[in-house]
Amino acid sequence: MIKLIKSSFYNEKDTKKKLAKFILKAKIFSMKKECANFEKKFAKKQSRRYAVFVSSGSTANLVLIQALLNLGKLKKGDRIGFSALTWSTNVMPLMQLGLIPIALDCNLKTLNVSPSEIEKKISKIKGLFLTNVLGMADEIEKIKEICQRNKIIFIEDNCESLGSRISGKLLGNFGLASTFSFFVGHHLSTIEGGMICTDDEKLYQMLLITRIHGWDRNLGLIAQKEIRTTHKVDDFYAKYTFYDLAFNARPTEVNGFLGNNQLQYWDEMVSIRAKHFKLFQSIVGQNDDFVPLDLSHMDLISNFAMPIICKNKKTVEKYKKRFINHGVEIRPIIAGNIEMQPFYKKYINKKTYCLNSNFIHQNGFYFANNPELNKKEINTIIGLLAK
Ligand SMILES: Cc1ncc(COP(=O)(O)O)c(C=O)c1O
Repeated sequence: MIKLIKSSFYNEKDTKKKLAKFILKAKIFSMKKECANFEKKFAKKQSRRYAVFVSSGSTANLVLIQALLNLGKLKKGDRIGFSALTWSTNVMPLMQLGLIPIALDCNLKTLNVSPSEIEKKISKIKGLFLTNVLGMADEIEKIKEICQRNKIIFIEDNCESLGSRISGKLLGNFGLASTFSFFVGHHLSTIEGGMICTDDEKLYQMLLITRIHGWDRNLGLIAQKEIRTTHKVDDFYAKYTFYDLAFNARPTEVNGFLGNNQLQYWDEMVSIRAKHFKLFQSIVGQNDDFVPLDLSHMDLISNFAMPIICKNKKTVEKYKKRFINHGVEIRPIIAGNIEMQPFYKKYINKKTYCLNSNFIHQNGFYFANNPELNKKEINTIIGLLAK
């Protein structure tokens, strides 16, 4: 079977050996040096000033939204545009934290929200939380510019797009902040884990407070002194003083160790996935049963799964059956139009009717694009993509 996830880590055997050694030697397993090290190295690799390591991509989203609320950059009741084609825990934090989600439809050619879709809803929204779907993005520089012009807080859910680039810039570097997932099967695995990146110092400090209990213990000395002075807290009571709304989204040293270990393979993993994507994309382009994507504006696309959109329901059933019969694992293209999901229908009455996202849900599927795919598996997949 060609499964979506082939291994828990890149270079799995060696990584497991090193992990076993680390566990035998380590004295502290709660968040400490390994995590701090990973944050520093990840920020550098992503070309961001700050990185905050958390327990998952989902908690990264939750902590980020809460931190923006704590800072007053967003307010309860604000309308926030988000990609209708996304993952549940992209939009759930908006709903959980009292914001009003406004679904934005995707462009069929990029699977992502385009500047023109945002322009249509611009007067209605205060914030924009876009998902960079499966290693791709639309014209994200234009989107950033629209947001700046309209004073809209723009943040990126980059959980599916580590390493992809537009105009020489990594995805995840266009918004005020961006989130990443290190769940097994994503580009870089720490078993469970996530990251929030930003260049904004105030937001960084609030993220540190919001990640763990609302206390100041993880702030730098200057920021710590400042907050203690403002609140008239001495060093004794500072241990248990909680300044703002928060969670416990702490990662462990095991996750930190794995992050540091896997980071050395970033370039290799990203470029192999990009090479596979290019190859699959060229085969897809030769078959007129499929809707072609247009991603000519992107420098590099690295994803963990390859989306296929068929022209109609009958055709998609043919290919789905073909893939399953040949032992290739397939899944829907993430959560489809999130407006059609039971949790969304339960809480949100107003729908925006995202026809393209519906189309993708009904006529699409994805299969694995992991760096361990071998020649035989790649040839099997290429054969299945023929008309
Ligand atoms: C777009 C997006 N956001 C958030 C998440 C959540 O990440 P995690 O599984 O690490 O919680 C995912 C997970 O696949 C995702 O695809």
